[in-house]
Amino acid sequence: MNDSPSRAVEGTGRPTAHRFSAPERDAVYRAIFHRRDMREGFTGEAVDHSTLARLLLAAHHAPSVGFMQPWDFVLISDHDTREALWRVVDKERRSAAVVFEGQQAEQFPSIKIEALREASVVICVTVDPARRGPHVLGRNSDEATDLYSAAAAIQNLWLAARAEGLGMGWVSFYKKPDVRLVLGLPPHINPIGLLCLGPVAAFPEQPRLQQVGWGERIPLTDLVHFEHWDGRTHDPNGPWGGFPEALEAAEPA
Ligand SMILES: Cc1cc2nc3c(=O)[nH]c(=O)nc-3n(C[C@H](O)[C@H](O)[C@H](O)COP(=O)(O)O)c2cc1C
Repeated sequence: MNDSPSRAVEGTGRPTAHRFSAPERDAVYRAIFHRRDMREGFTGEAVDHSTLARLLLAAHHAPSVGFMQPWDFVLISDHDTREALWRVVDKERRSAAVVFEGQQAEQFPSIKIEALREASVVICVTVDPARRGPHVLGRNSDEATDLYSAAAAIQNLWLAARAEGLGMGWVSFYKKPDVRLVLGLPPHINPIGLLCLGPVAAFPEQPRLQQVGWGERIPLTDLVHFEHWDGRTHDPNGPWGGFPEALEAAEPA
């Protein structure tokens, strides 16, 4: 893999050392903006081993607290194992349904929350909280940093899959002991996601939950604070002058 910096000059006046070329940079943003959580449209075609190996390597190059690398990947193709996982998820789906009220209660049963049967391959990503012993650099103040690390690995895999033209859906509707039982995981191993992966017929433009009216993307300008939590306004002549406009301009047209 070639990771030497390219030097693209675009007349922005910004330093360009180490910057990707414009097409390379666009490709990174394209993977980010066109990644979707996929539940539908899996074709069932096989994912070849070299592609799958690249995706796992991308995941394995994620940042991790104290270089802990707390993840493992259980690759699942077996029909009976998928069926067992499907039953585990379906049980949780039915018990989760009771928390919704009103329109969401009506809508929830029609929302597909997994693709365990249709995906070409299922990957269970786990976290081993004991990896690298009891004192992992940087983890003493926040134990959950092992989970953040593994989430970063999953996001790497998700973006790489999108670049490869493969869809992926992250399934978290399950009780962990149930998944441990099906996959034979040791009791201290934490299964944080069942990833449904494979070729798909098409990628939707918007998140599925947005398409069906379940939720909307919050405007980014509502989520940015200047200097402190209450900092919703700023001095237009200060260091953040013009920044809200820049945020709005960054949104795709
Ligand atoms: C930690 C995590 C767990 C998720 N678990 C599920 C799940 O069990 N079932 C499901 O349908 N979607 C699940 N999702 C997908 C989200 O619903 C989806 O990411 C969100 O609606 C935004 O859509 P997008 O990923 O296409 O941008 C999960 C996403 C994350 C990050």
